[in-house]
Amino acid sequence: MEQYSTFSEIYDYLMDTKDYDLWTENIIKIYNKYEISPRKILELGCGTGNITTRLYKKGFSIIGTDISREMLKVANDKALEENLRIRFLLQDMTNLTFNKKVDSVISICDGINYITDIEKLKKTVNNVYEILNYNGLFLFDISTLYKLKNVIGNNIFHENFEDFSYVWDNEFNIETRILKFELTLFLLDEDNTYERFIENHVQRAHTVEEIISVLDEKFEILDILNESLNKPEENDERIYFVARKKGDNNGK
Ligand SMILES: C[S@@+](CC[C@H](N)C(=O)[O-])C[C@H]1O[C@@H](n2cnc3c(N)ncnc32)[C@H](O)[C@@H]1O
Repeated sequence: MEQYSTFSEIYDYLMDTKDYDLWTENIIKIYNKYEISPRKILELGCGTGNITTRLYKKGFSIIGTDISREMLKVANDKALEENLRIRFLLQDMTNLTFNKKVDSVISICDGINYITDIEKLKKTVNNVYEILNYNGLFLFDISTLYKLKNVIGNNIFHENFEDFSYVWDNEFNIETRILKFELTLFLLDEDNTYERFIENHVQRAHTVEEIISVLDEKFEILDILNESLNKPEENDERIYFVARKKGDNNGK
């Protein structure tokens, strides 16, 4: 079963404890710090649109993209319900076909960890470079090696809710820094019986050095920050990269 196909149905319930308001504020603080007020933002891996809708409500013009049709459907339904005029597009960030220029590209909450192949990560960075205006800002986070190795690691997590349960079984390979996890979902249906769904997800713990080397040629790295917007420390679970597009030979 494809990643996020069934998970999309309960994603927002499970992410309820995540501080999307803080994440949104952090994006805005970073824009302010670098004195950019992007007229158009493209979000990669927008999922169910939790950041997209918040930024839109703060006055930004934003387009959400994701590889999962099901996640986009949830995002779109939520936007329609609230009368928000946001476009959501099915796009693989490793192979973007979006061809309009934007002032900022963002990817928040692990989208980049889902790019497990370094060549594909380079391709993603190239895609972002191509669609950014000169001086445009690429802002993304990653879950850190510390988190994938020590917090998620080889652990099993499970929880019961009123109408669904999940078992999240992780396997982290220290050599490859690949995290594979099996997510087993039990969803209560209208007949009061539980249906079981299994999704297999793969993420990679990119190191800071790897990200720097992938960005290096085309971007000036302005900041690497933790969630408190300070210099990252050893036990940080999430860090942001803030990178500005360098000019090409034509100064664009
Ligand atoms: C943990 S979710 C985060 C969703 C959303 N950004 C949020 O903050 O809730 C990761 C998202 O990345 C998307 N994703 C994974 N690989 C992708 C790819 N190659 N291109 C675009 N989106 C991708 C998944 O479909 C999923 O919606």
